[in-house]
Amino acid sequence: MRVNNALDESTTVHWHGLHVAGPSDGGPHQVIAPGKSWRPSFNIVQEAATLWYHPHPKGQTGRQVYRGLAGFFIIDDDRSLDLNLPNKYGENDIPLVIQDRKFTTDGQLEYETSFIFSRNGMFGDEILVNGEINPTLKVGTAKIRLRVLNGSNTRIYNLSLSDRSNFVQIASDGGFLNRPVKLRSLEISPGERAEIVIDFSKYSVGDSIRLKDPSFDIMQFIVNKRVEDKTTIPTRIGDVKKIPRSAAIRKRTFVLKSAGGGVAKQDLTINGKLFDLKRIDETVGRGDTEIWEVRNPSSPGENLSLHPLHIHGIHFQILSRNGRAPAENERGWKDTLLLHKDETAKLIMRFEDFKGVYMYHCHMLEHEDAGMMAQFETK
Ligand code: C2O
Ligand code: CU
Ligand code: CU
Repeated sequence: MRVNNALDESTTVHWHGLHVAGPSDGGPHQVIAPGKSWRPSFNIVQEAATLWYHPHPKGQTGRQVYRGLAGFFIIDDDRSLDLNLPNKYGENDIPLVIQDRKFTTDGQLEYETSFIFSRNGMFGDEILVNGEINPTLKVGTAKIRLRVLNGSNTRIYNLSLSDRSNFVQIASDGGFLNRPVKLRSLEISPGERAEIVIDFSKYSVGDSIRLKDPSFDIMQFIVNKRVEDKTTIPTRIGDVKKIPRSAAIRKRTFVLKSAGGGVAKQDLTINGKLFDLKRIDETVGRGDTEIWEVRNPSSPGENLSLHPLHIHGIHFQILSRNGRAPAENERGWKDTLLLHKDETAKLIMRFEDFKGVYMYHCHMLEHEDAGMMAQFETK
């Protein structure tokens, strides 16, 4: 890769979901000064998945992503090409990044930097899909695969179709689910990806269907032609092998905490600590399997009750949420998971192949920038 920084400020480029050595990860340590370039090199050693890239400079991630520095990073492999799923890029296989933005009266992007705002996060009142407000996609009477990325700074979406039809989720952050999962709605938090398939074959030419959230219309599909659909959704898609609990040699606990009151932004912490670039918070052994228990306890007077936790460099499996087995569409590889209010989740992961320093943080970017981030080193 060769990344040239033509901005007049420093940045980094992080490959979110990519399994690479620490120095190639593009976190806040891999600063690219204005006018300089960064040349990491790596092999792709993971299965087909929908990933993305975005800047990660300390304290400036939210603002830079908001202003447009983000894109998809899609990995294919033989399995994904042989499955007979919709896979014609831009035709029946469409990346779809959802982002909310706020505009000034003269149409410029508005990013607030006040103090309260860094606690609550940046919310826009317009929803953009691939950079467009409420776009329309013309579709035939066939299955369409959408690679949905919530690329918003803070907003969580609850996606559904306007006629309450089902759709099918086939992949999560790190690749295919073992089986397709039928859904009527899908909650997706910042940083998460979900590949879904919508079957338009039951509609007639002229029908329009909206993809929406309880508060917003996201986009619209107009059926404009009859076509023959040769794609299928196999009953077995992925090959995710459960990591046995017994493989774990260590357990760690992480508490994401935002004490209430709105007094200081210094209270967005992990295990009581604000992010410090010079402090390695955890050291893990390369090749080890660990269980990470992650908790989001609420405190009195608190209004920030949700935190999507993201871990760099690896993918994990969810063992439980509040002691219960994860939902079917959360039984694949994940790198980001939404912790609801008062939720405790147990994750299992293997730190294989690579060494280096990696981040873990809340993916609400203003929370990350305000200090809800920490780092581990794989040795
Ligand atoms: Cu999507 Cu640390 O990042
Ligand atoms: Cu990442
Ligand atoms: Cu958060």
